[in-house]
Amino acid sequence: MCGIIGYTGRRQAAPVLLDGLKRLEYRGYDSAGIALVRGTGFFVRKKKGRVEELSETASERGTVGIGHTRWATHGEPSERNAHPHVCGKFALVHNGIVENGFRLRKELEETGEIFSSDTDSETVVRLLNRLYDGDVLAALKKTAERLEGSYALAILCADFPDEIFCARRASPLIVGVGAGECYAVSDPVAVAGREGKFYALSDGEFARLSPDGATVYDRYLRPVAKEEKQYGRAEVPQLGAFRHFMRKEMEEIPDAIEKSLLKFIDEPLKNLMRRTKSVSIVACGTAYHSGVAAKTAIEALARIPVEVCVASEYRYGNPVSGEGTLVLAVSQSGETADTIAAARLAKERGASVVAVTNVADSTLTTAADLTLYTYAGREIGVAATKSYNAQLALLYSFAVALAQGKGREELPYSALTELPALAKRALRACDGVRSWAQRFQNARSVFFIGRGSDYAAALEGSLKLKELSYLPSEGYAAGELKHGTLALIDRNTPVVALLTNREIAEKTMNAVHEAYARGARVFLVTSLPEYALRKEVSASVVVPETDPLFSPALSVIPLQALAYYTALACGNDPDKPRNLAKSVTVE
Ligand code: G6P
Repeated sequence: MCGIIGYTGRRQAAPVLLDGLKRLEYRGYDSAGIALVRGTGFFVRKKKGRVEELSETASERGTVGIGHTRWATHGEPSERNAHPHVCGKFALVHNGIVENGFRLRKELEETGEIFSSDTDSETVVRLLNRLYDGDVLAALKKTAERLEGSYALAILCADFPDEIFCARRASPLIVGVGAGECYAVSDPVAVAGREGKFYALSDGEFARLSPDGATVYDRYLRPVAKEEKQYGRAEVPQLGAFRHFMRKEMEEIPDAIEKSLLKFIDEPLKNLMRRTKSVSIVACGTAYHSGVAAKTAIEALARIPVEVCVASEYRYGNPVSGEGTLVLAVSQSGETADTIAAARLAKERGASVVAVTNVADSTLTTAADLTLYTYAGREIGVAATKSYNAQLALLYSFAVALAQGKGREELPYSALTELPALAKRALRACDGVRSWAQRFQNARSVFFIGRGSDYAAALEGSLKLKELSYLPSEGYAAGELKHGTLALIDRNTPVVALLTNREIAEKTMNAVHEAYARGARVFLVTSLPEYALRKEVSASVVVPETDPLFSPALSVIPLQALAYYTALACGNDPDKPRNLAKSVTVE
């Protein structure tokens, strides 16, 4: 998703901007650009493709500038649609979506504006330039009042060549104040390790930055005092001996699980649990899949009904929630627009909202009554790995605590504390799937099947494979295969079967037989080694056995590895899959 960096200070801005853009790359993008204040105007360079394309601008002079990585929403990925956008005295970068952009554009075009891009962002800079009469903040406030949707804006104005102007609504923006310099960034990673004080803008706020400091204003342009945040202390992850962050982050899974298990339930959470009659989990992508896995555990252990909803559906549905409903809003980044909106809606309806996130002070935490943190560490690979296992650790221990609160004592918490060591062993099984990649890379499509918890892991395994290899793939409930989908299976359709629950293993094997009988090659991920010897199985990896309720935390590991190796076999970059963004901050 788009990234913003702005710098004003005593140093040359271009190297700072390029460094910031490199750090923002992990979010996913398709073009990038920078603008520097130059005389009475701007130096602007934009490129489709990678940030490296801008490297020749590193020597451009100028101490004030803004930079942007763009993930296309309105208008194709191209140089003309890349940011910054310039109009008159202004250069602007924008994250978010201006939902009335089309209407505003029409209005501006009818009164003579000629646009040079297809973006909604250009309407903002054109409107701002129109409304400007010497007071940038006043014009920015009037502009903001005309905008519907979300925005984080960083703006240069030729009349104030030392300054950067900012505005925020529903898209994150952080202001940093160092010695003789200021930053504006959309993501803490861009300022990690930098000296200074950092402040997160709230919805509706504006800011004015100069080398001498920053002032934040509320929606009426009254200066406001802000609470300092510790973003500068974050570390910039390094690859070390690894080729890709994804593989490195998988090695960090045992640690992520260990740190994310809930070790202590405080009074506010206990109270909230006591009041809980039903649970709704709202999330997107991989976080949604951890919700699917958690549903099985919560229902089995606490005997409380759980629904799992894709956040984008929840927010525009008419959810039945209120007192007694506990909404778990799960998001690695805490910045996914749909999940935040779903959490806010749930709260409006009277539900208790608990955010489950990996990022301190992320926007989701502001929409929740309580926050539970996963401690996976920063995740750079666009396709989530260790954050999924960390979410499972937290949600499983939450399930156990919820059950204990309901007086159900005979619970497998010890199985949870063993998970980190078992995950280490599961990582050793990853080499076993390396050779599978050759057989998957030319497949027409792939199926991942399982029952119960195995079905939850199958959904995530399938998502990983499609994200990284671009192969059509589906996660399917093993018992449902025969109701239509079997028609798609032939010898070019590898089937990955998950088998970790002895009690229903033979039932899943029925589906394996059915696929095998249609010529499919079956690849087994199991904690039950005896099944690896069955004639229907072409290849298998064995993962350590745990309580079947918790098995996705282990069985997903070889599936993540399968996606990684298949991406390599297909010639794709596993850290930066095409078209995808790490956190989706727009609808
Ligand atoms: C994007 C990412 C996925 C991620 C999803 C939810 O689509 O590409 O990997 O699972 O967003 O992200 P969140 O930060 O809310 O967990």
